[in-house]
Amino acid sequence: MSKILRHFLDLSELPVHDLRAILDASIAMKKNLKAGHPDRPLKDKTLAMIFERPSTRTRVSFEVGMRQLGGEAIMLTGQEMQLGRGETFADTARVLSRFVDIIMIRILSHDALAEMVEFATVPVINGLTRRSHPTQVMADVMTFEEHRGPIKGRTVAWVGDDNNVMASWAHAAERFGFTLRVATPPQLAPNKRLRDWIKAANAPIVLGTDAKEAVRGADCVVTDTWMSMGDKDAEHRHTLLQPYQVDEKLMSLAKPDAIFMHCLPAHRGEEVTDEVIDGPQSVVFDEAENRLHAHKGILAWCLGAVG
Ligand code: CP
Ligand code: NVA
Repeated sequence: MSKILRHFLDLSELPVHDLRAILDASIAMKKNLKAGHPDRPLKDKTLAMIFERPSTRTRVSFEVGMRQLGGEAIMLTGQEMQLGRGETFADTARVLSRFVDIIMIRILSHDALAEMVEFATVPVINGLTRRSHPTQVMADVMTFEEHRGPIKGRTVAWVGDDNNVMASWAHAAERFGFTLRVATPPQLAPNKRLRDWIKAANAPIVLGTDAKEAVRGADCVVTDTWMSMGDKDAEHRHTLLQPYQVDEKLMSLAKPDAIFMHCLPAHRGEEVTDEVIDGPQSVVFDEAENRLHAHKGILAWCLGAVG
């Protein structure tokens, strides 16, 4: 009988008690690390990381995290692998599963991720696709709660375009029970797949086009690059998104103790001004650090060391 694998693919697919178990473990391991007693539950385990697209935070935090947990990580890029010469994702998944204990992949095509998952016999982690970025938003929820307490019942404002990070924030809103107010230009509004999911899940998400309306009274304001990996037509997108820049004026409409988040890398002077990202409400570097701690929770959960 094949065992049930603990993949980490989308927040919408995981029961909230598993997501909570991951966050609790991440917080405990962060505390132990800082106290000089790092947890090492993944001794002798190996992670294969496949990056079809660039990364600074995801790559380094998964590699360092795996080492801190007692294991090892192997960094691979699609072009250096036979994937770049046409080997299928299915065969790559079958082969890697014979060598390593867990796979993390960043690839634009969500279908390619699904193919890896179908044929892998070890857990697979979604390290970002065009559709979602769930490891990021685990770190984001962790960061919100460290700064402002339980996220349940709170209001988060997303200002920008419809992208992978926004989709994972939407999934998180439904799972963790907070309101997500989304403000996008009408031309860059949430896609039909996400809208259908919001409707079917009866998710607490308010879609709109007015940045001020979304931000007013919010506990947290989030934005992201106007050009996600794979996006085209920079000039057109910049014109559409200019009114959605998060500046001090927009930020002042949120609650006085609201925090500002951004997954990074940031494009200063575009989606956010220096005054906001470097200002007292910004928690973007805590958020980046928490990628490390959240990823350790995710790795430990996928490999059965948590929950
Ligand atoms: N936020 C994020 O995923 O950053 P990287 O692209 O550097 O991994
Ligand atoms: N939305 C961005 C996130 C980068 C971490 C992108 O897909 O490029």
